[in-house]
Amino acid sequence: MKKQLLTPLALGRLNLKNRVVMAPMTRSRAEHGSEAPTALNALYYAQRSSAGLIITEGTQVSRQGQGYAYTPGIYSREQVVGWKQVTQAVHDAGGLIAAQLWHVGRMSHASFQEQGAVPVAPSAIRAQAQVFVSDGMGSGLMAPAEQPREMTLEDIESVKQSFVEASRNAMEAGFDLVEIHGANGYLFDQFLATGTNKRLDAYGGSLENRARFLLETVDALIHVVGADRVGVRLSPWGTISDIQDDEPEAMALFLAHALDQRNIAYLHLAEWEWTGGQAYPEGFRQRMRSAFQKTLIVCGNYDAERGETLLAQGLADAVAMGRPFIANPDLVERIRQEVPLSEANPELFYGGDAKGYTDYPTHPAL
Ligand SMILES: Cc1cc2nc3c(=O)[nH]c(=O)nc-3n(C[C@H](O)[C@H](O)[C@H](O)COP(=O)(O)O)c2cc1C
Repeated sequence: MKKQLLTPLALGRLNLKNRVVMAPMTRSRAEHGSEAPTALNALYYAQRSSAGLIITEGTQVSRQGQGYAYTPGIYSREQVVGWKQVTQAVHDAGGLIAAQLWHVGRMSHASFQEQGAVPVAPSAIRAQAQVFVSDGMGSGLMAPAEQPREMTLEDIESVKQSFVEASRNAMEAGFDLVEIHGANGYLFDQFLATGTNKRLDAYGGSLENRARFLLETVDALIHVVGADRVGVRLSPWGTISDIQDDEPEAMALFLAHALDQRNIAYLHLAEWEWTGGQAYPEGFRQRMRSAFQKTLIVCGNYDAERGETLLAQGLADAVAMGRPFIANPDLVERIRQEVPLSEANPELFYGGDAKGYTDYPTHPAL
């Protein structure tokens, strides 16, 4: 059977060799202290470069934006140098790679912040959720997210500026695109959702106001790197990181229209139905498709078959896969040859070394 998943896709100024995207996945294996990517990280991504596009793990744009131990940053020289070896290794292996730019907002902890600083959020509402902090010995433990403070207008400008700097750094480091992490209960999602945004200024209240910070950041990045190098990830109906929203569909469609007008490279939807989240309502995918004409990437427990179905219906242009890429570095080839997939070990998802990271073998029959 001819698989549409394995056909090329023009995305922004890039040509993807197939429509299987590697989903962004935090693996918490950056260098301790500098939070710079290492040669091991470069090997991990290079092994997976048969994906049409790799999206990196969430990468904090500033120290303030970090919420989990050993996640890489993209704000220091050392980090840019570290990323250069990653992008080089992926390009040498024939792949393309986007940097997922991340600010966790309230999903943070004092141990990540500058001395004496507290995490920031649209409103001073604490997440009933846990973050992964360093135990000081190279390992990690879970701790409650900190009480955040409400961002001032200066804070909002300063975070926007961090994203601008980070996207400049990403270009210097050789990335093909940047993806703004607007999903999964982190800073932008905290602004979008009614449960976390109680602001009374131009950044809270109406849909337009709650979307303002994200769209202003998108515009700032378009200015720096060009619309065709910017992607955005959203997770309507997502509830992870204690997010709660009264208007997920209205916001998703509002943003889809606004991003379509801006001609960005792609919109990426993280779906959470597979782990207890609410399913998309009837007709939502069709409404999304009409609102956003450019490349639409879907993600969330997709296998090749489910992915093919959505592509055939025209409801997505590419399918991102996360966990399957952890245990199957040759995932695209396995899909092509229809050989069984290996299962990833969740105990080795975060932190540690090569074990459970770069030691998953390719299929013996390939
Ligand atoms: C270990 C792990 C780390 C993740 N880290 C991120 C992340 O940094 N950024 C993000 O947007 N999503 C992250 N996700 C969510 C994935 O991108 C994806 O949406 C989810 O795993 C569902 O896709 P799958 O069923 O193909 O794994 C992570 C998922 C896993 C399993």
